[in-house]
Amino acid sequence: MKVAFLGLGRMGAPMAAHVVRAGHDVTVWNRTSGKAGNLVELGATEARTVASAVAGAEVVVLMLFGPDAVRAVLSDVLDHAPGALVLDASTVGPDAAHEFAKACHARGLRYVDAPVAGTVKPATDGTLGVFLGGAPEDVAVAQELAELWGDPARVRHVGGVGSASALKLCVNQSLGVMAAGVGEALRLGHDLGLDRDLLLGVLGQTAYGWYVGQKLPMIQADDYSDTTFSVDLMAKDLDLAVTSADSDLEVTRACLDQAKRTLAAGHAGEDYAAITGHLAGEGEANGY
Ligand SMILES: NC(=O)c1ccc[n+]([C@@H]2O[C@H](COP(=O)([O-])OP(=O)(O)OC[C@H]3O[C@@H](n4cnc5c(N)ncnc54)[C@H](OP(=O)(O)O)[C@@H]3O)[C@@H](O)[C@H]2O)c1
Repeated sequence: MKVAFLGLGRMGAPMAAHVVRAGHDVTVWNRTSGKAGNLVELGATEARTVASAVAGAEVVVLMLFGPDAVRAVLSDVLDHAPGALVLDASTVGPDAAHEFAKACHARGLRYVDAPVAGTVKPATDGTLGVFLGGAPEDVAVAQELAELWGDPARVRHVGGVGSASALKLCVNQSLGVMAAGVGEALRLGHDLGLDRDLLLGVLGQTAYGWYVGQKLPMIQADDYSDTTFSVDLMAKDLDLAVTSADSDLEVTRACLDQAKRTLAAGHAGEDYAAITGHLAGEGEANGY
């Protein structure tokens, strides 16, 4: 297939590499230049503009920050990739997915929302979970590519456009709640005079076990610079969750507030576990 891959961030670059290695004809583009080196070595072509990247593409993959970034590049895709299937792997939420599908359909393009579950290592290993939302004939095409960066057993057709993005928001709501919850458990333990390492060890055996298992070295070192999923992405997703729901998601809103405070303290690009560190107040020496 002739594939254009737009967005070579932490996730996009390793995902695009799978498409190149599979032998597809891949053109890559990133807003900031200098991110395509490895992909060009593997056999991809680097384009300087969205228009030249998508010209003649059968599938245009988007792996961008969020809805605003997708909106910023989609108009050029609509103008220069007639008839293409837009496979949007970015986390954009269901409302934006519907908006983008409508814009694509109005111009004769097709749209599948295809957000991923998992982070940089699964992206590199090709073992991500992938949720697909769209018409069955479009999903069939999207699935062929999604199974390159995803574990085929975890590539799921959820339903129509937007359904995959809805599922993805629920997944990330759970991560945001855990990051804030563990931070507050640490704060509680601190106030009650508990030893921090003892507490972290025991929290690792509770319902927080998965999160503590993933983030223990960062939390122990109060160093969140080895980012896989950044605080600004988590804030974006918690905001999407709060604004997508009809109900008032009070717990999610409280977690969003914590993410925003962590952002305001200057930790936007750090791993989202910085929300735990910021809330715990344990790392005052490091500016938390
Ligand atoms: N990281 C994870 O663990 C993870 C897991 C699952 C899903 N996701 C989702 O996957 C998507 C990408 O995440 P990531 O971690 O790869 O993010 P990232 O490393 O921050 O990369 C973001 C990408 O979006 C581009 N971008 C941002 N604003 C743009 C704009 N206005 N116009 C054009 N391009 C723009 C960036 O270009 P520049 O290089 O020029 O800034 C970069 O290519 C996000 O939707 C995220 O929520 C991430």
